[in-house]
Amino acid sequence: MEYFKICGGKKLSGQISVHGAKNSALPILASTLLIKGESVIHNCPDLSDVRVTLDILKSLGCKVKREKSTVLVDASVVDNNEISEHTMRTMRSSIIFLSALLSRQGSASIFYPGGCEIGTRPIDLHLKAFHDLGADVSVNGSSINACATSIIGTKIILPFPSVGTTENIIIASAISKGKTIIVNPAREPEISDLADFLNHCGAKIYGAGESTIVIDGVKRLDACEHTIIPDRILASTYMSLGAVCSKELTVKNIRQSHLSPVFPVFTEMGCKIYLSDNSLTLVSPKKLKRVRSIKTMPYPGFPTDSQSPVAVALALAKGTSILQETIFENRFRYVSELNRFGTDIEIKDNIAVINGVDKLHSANVNATDLRGGAALVVAALCANGESNIYGIEHIDRGYENLENALSSIGADIKRSKNEGETNAKASKKEIE
Ligand code: UD1
Repeated sequence: MEYFKICGGKKLSGQISVHGAKNSALPILASTLLIKGESVIHNCPDLSDVRVTLDILKSLGCKVKREKSTVLVDASVVDNNEISEHTMRTMRSSIIFLSALLSRQGSASIFYPGGCEIGTRPIDLHLKAFHDLGADVSVNGSSINACATSIIGTKIILPFPSVGTTENIIIASAISKGKTIIVNPAREPEISDLADFLNHCGAKIYGAGESTIVIDGVKRLDACEHTIIPDRILASTYMSLGAVCSKELTVKNIRQSHLSPVFPVFTEMGCKIYLSDNSLTLVSPKKLKRVRSIKTMPYPGFPTDSQSPVAVALALAKGTSILQETIFENRFRYVSELNRFGTDIEIKDNIAVINGVDKLHSANVNATDLRGGAALVVAALCANGESNIYGIEHIDRGYENLENALSSIGADIKRSKNEGETNAKASKKEIE
């Protein structure tokens, strides 16, 4: 079992670079299935979720190669339309393959992705959208089967701007008959990145990032090269780290506009943000200030994925901050582990009441999910003494080689292997 051994309390400084966005890479890689040729995807992060996606593509018949941060997917031959139950359980977002397989093969057979560590995550909106697009969708126990001779454009009004549902509709409708209109789609930058990729391949998708998306179905798509946008959630994780562990930290390879929902929170905490072309420098005050109220919302609101790393900064601010989670019901599971470092956070339903403390002490903790795990790493880097973070397979889903990136700005963090001790035991053993 791998874990991070972190010797915290060091001042971090310098420059740290943001890799490509996980949440763009996954739908873009899935949609390469629509193209009978070789797609070249640059700035593709080497994450465990991306590796699972590439394995799915291989299992469907694609030829896949990685050359540093560029991934080449040749989907000239696709000879399967099924994804195994094991894979669907490993990565919930493989639901995105439903549209890609339906488009390419005319049928798809996948397994119900089920709930996950941050919530139940139903797929009713996805299934209704496929039905509206003329697909025959049936759920049989845990298996989902969909087929359609062709996708027929229609108007779909989403009751909630679901990211995955918007992506599935875009991918399914790119090659289709007629016009698809999505009212109230998700507006996340990753949606625009997916639309940009497909448009480069010849799709006609208009309005991504706005309140209505219009897709004029085309007959075929051709291979292209595409560069994935920087990961805004990784950038906000580094900003949280900078706020608590550094006087001045430069975060490189960012898109300023994608981070505008998080900037006000950091300025309210008293940080100064200096922007230049593709980077930002965060200068932290001696003592962070509380933020009266933050509510996670669909983009362009404050992102649910940034909630947990930012909570660590608020936990070290002067005063009480209120953080409300409105997207996923279990997204505060990490808080009981975070409190082992000495933070004072109370959860009442979907609200975290964060009473700022002066300092943290080291602890041995378990990561319960991806972003909660990143929050524990930030806390361990602030805490004086040695901490162990277990369950880092969650963190590896979204942070590429995190220990190397953090070491480059002065962090003392190592990936270790522990054969003997169980996680449960370890999490009870606090160092001080
Ligand atoms: C994506 C992101 C995830 C991010 C989330 C919200 C990827 C791979 N993951 O997840 O990191 O936290 O957007 O920004 O891009 N819902 C339903 N029925 C459905 C679909 C969704 O009720 O059919 C609900 C979900 O349970 C959740 C909310 O809608 O409460 C948001 O889900 P959604 O926007 O679909 O998130 P994901 O695409 O799963």
